[in-house]
Amino acid sequence: MGRTEKRILGKNAAKIIEILKSAYCDEMRIFHYFWYVGINMEGIGLVTYAAALKTQATGELAHAELLADRIAELGDLAPSNPSEWAKYSTIGLLDPAKHLTLRAALERALQFEGKAVENYNNLAKKALTLGDYVTYNLATTILADEVKDEQHTEDILKSLEVK
Ligand SMILES: [Fe+2]
Ligand SMILES: [Fe+2]
Repeated sequence: MGRTEKRILGKNAAKIIEILKSAYCDEMRIFHYFWYVGINMEGIGLVTYAAALKTQATGELAHAELLADRIAELGDLAPSNPSEWAKYSTIGLLDPAKHLTLRAALERALQFEGKAVENYNNLAKKALTLGDYVTYNLATTILADEVKDEQHTEDILKSLEVK
């Protein structure tokens, strides 16, 4: 951490780092979810939607990178051991192999995209309260993506309804 930021944030940095780490774990797991489902999708989703899921996966991976960069800036490291990711994550059990049809994949995605919206909203509030404007800016940037993700997932699910 740069010495000026260190002086300004003081002990608050540790609180922010903790939230950033859990967000990192969520993003890595969500990345893997979309990636895996995109490769192994079953049924009609394989021809119609698998590529979109892989694109979505790389979007989540980009979030993980932004978080890892900020954690490093604050003088720590993102959780490196994949076995820790489930432990610090906020989105519960996530086994992509259990959600391989398009509808099942999107229904599970809707849950964790909603959770991501809540989490980044809370992170933005917390960062603002603690005077960490860089993290605040990061949280609102990712939040805007997650709001889009949730809306998009909702729209696709709706379009699957038989009329
Ligand atoms: Fe994300
Ligand atoms: Fe997302």
